[in-house]
Amino acid sequence: MKNIVILISGRGSNMEAIVRACADERWDARIAAVVSNRADAAGLAFARDRGIATEVVEHRAFPSRNAFDDALAERIERHGADIVALAGFMRILGAAFVRRFDGRLVNIHPSLLPAFPGLETHRRAIEAGCKASGASVHFVTAELDHGPIVAQAAVPVLPDDDAARLAARVLEQEHVIYPRAVRWFLDDRVSVRNGVVHIKGSDAQLVLAAR
Ligand code: GRF
Repeated sequence: MKNIVILISGRGSNMEAIVRACADERWDARIAAVVSNRADAAGLAFARDRGIATEVVEHRAFPSRNAFDDALAERIERHGADIVALAGFMRILGAAFVRRFDGRLVNIHPSLLPAFPGLETHRRAIEAGCKASGASVHFVTAELDHGPIVAQAAVPVLPDDDAARLAARVLEQEHVIYPRAVRWFLDDRVSVRNGVVHIKGSDAQLVLAAR
């Protein structure tokens, strides 16, 4: 049975989607821990209610980014992580951390990467006049919101969208593609060749949402 460790900083709806899929689809895996860098992350309560181990590693308690990264890594390893899923985790992780978890560290980002790395993706997509936006599950590399793309969901940008409305529709799709992508890892179906991710079998790596 494989161990999933999920890192959050806030609401944790993607974490919830993974937790629910793991239970509902009876994955041969467990959520070994949910780790937050903020004690007030709302998602921690959901995890605790489900009897999942939770950990708080407050970034403010450490003198440097490396010291925080090391403490975080140690805590994750303690739970025997086979896969580490960043789910709204709002700290940038250093190169040493990324190397340490190479091949087992994934993130979800609310844009169609490589477009719009960074923050405020929905506002930027609307302002750029994009007709589609979406979300990407990707391997984490030392460069922010980069790394081989595992799955994407594309959502139309509607004429009366504002950032909040677009974010809500994208989030619905995040909850579809993130658990699916995590499951591919657990089933050893993911390979990367020349920076391109391939999935064994016939599952689509792209979801095209109608709205
Ligand atoms: C999501 O939109 C995710 O793509 C981004 O941060 C948000 C986190 O939401 N990285 P939640 O905490 O999973 O609800």
